Amino acid sequence: MEKLHHLIKAEQLTPSIVAELLTDAENFNQSFKAGVRNFENLKGVTVCSLFYEESTRTRFSFERAALLLGANVISTENAAKFSSAAKGESLEHTIKVISGAAQNHLGYADIIVLRHPENDAAERAARVSWVPIINAGSGSNEHPTQALLDAYTFQKLLGRLDHFTISFIGDLKFSRVVSSEAVLLSQCPGVKMFFVAPQGLEIRPELKSYLSQKGGEFEEASDIKAVVQDSDICYVVRVQKNRIKDSELLLTYQRNKDNFAVTDEVYKMSEQKGTFFCHPMPVDEEEQEIRQEIENLPRVKMLEQAGYGVPVRMAILAKVWQNQKI
Ligand code: NCD
Repeated sequence: MEKLHHLIKAEQLTPSIVAELLTDAENFNQSFKAGVRNFENLKGVTVCSLFYEESTRTRFSFERAALLLGANVISTENAAKFSSAAKGESLEHTIKVISGAAQNHLGYADIIVLRHPENDAAERAARVSWVPIINAGSGSNEHPTQALLDAYTFQKLLGRLDHFTISFIGDLKFSRVVSSEAVLLSQCPGVKMFFVAPQGLEIRPELKSYLSQKGGEFEEASDIKAVVQDSDICYVVRVQKNRIKDSELLLTYQRNKDNFAVTDEVYKMSEQKGTFFCHPMPVDEEEQEIRQEIENLPRVKMLEQAGYGVPVRMAILAKVWQNQKI
């Protein structure tokens, strides 16, 4: 089986690697539930969380996962401002120093968890790093660890990771979560995908060609109500205001936003199918793509999803470290 050294993109998450990581995650989850707190997989290891973009769940769940595994954590929550990037340093230099490119035993960290606004950042980092790089979100193209924790969530909800229908709803153009998720699921048998996006924020053509090449079954639609009754999972994402430059796109979305929101009506329509509603969070409080009046109902699963970030990221950290030692 291929070995995970760096985790840069969802394409690396082949069915066998996914199966292995999800089994490990489930074991961590169950042990933790049973009260085990002294995992030692990363004893003596230092994990650096290097975040050039804002984050709540990803950074904290990675740090929590690392601490639970016995690692030490060094961290900057705003590397764009508080690292030497603000003085004009290249990402490559930063990574070389932290990973110990000159004298490997004198690097500052043994694993680097990186979030960065540029699409190719994790790849560039991996090219010069002496230690594993884990991509915690790069620009609008990749977020493989979120894709994996979502896969874990689907498996928990449906009891399987094949033969189901998922609808992705919202800004599919700029959502790195949806890109990674669709790539991961295109490797699972019998997964049908619907893509439902506001005008101008449709799934990118290169992702569509990738999915077609892989034989992925997908269809596009323009309203959540047209697909919800056929969906085992509705996966909703926010409109990425932090990445959208064209204000017209936002206005068009805002005029039609009921077509892309989980409302009381949508929830009721899906009663019979038993559709689960997932969201990577954050939900945009102003747009409420999952309406507040239904967010606490039993088939809305975003908080469970966020919790699964811990065991899944424990599995990833433990795996890359184990592979590093071999
Ligand atoms: C996502 C991200 O950063 O891409 N957040 C997360 O990691 N849970 C989703 C988003 O920002 O919309």
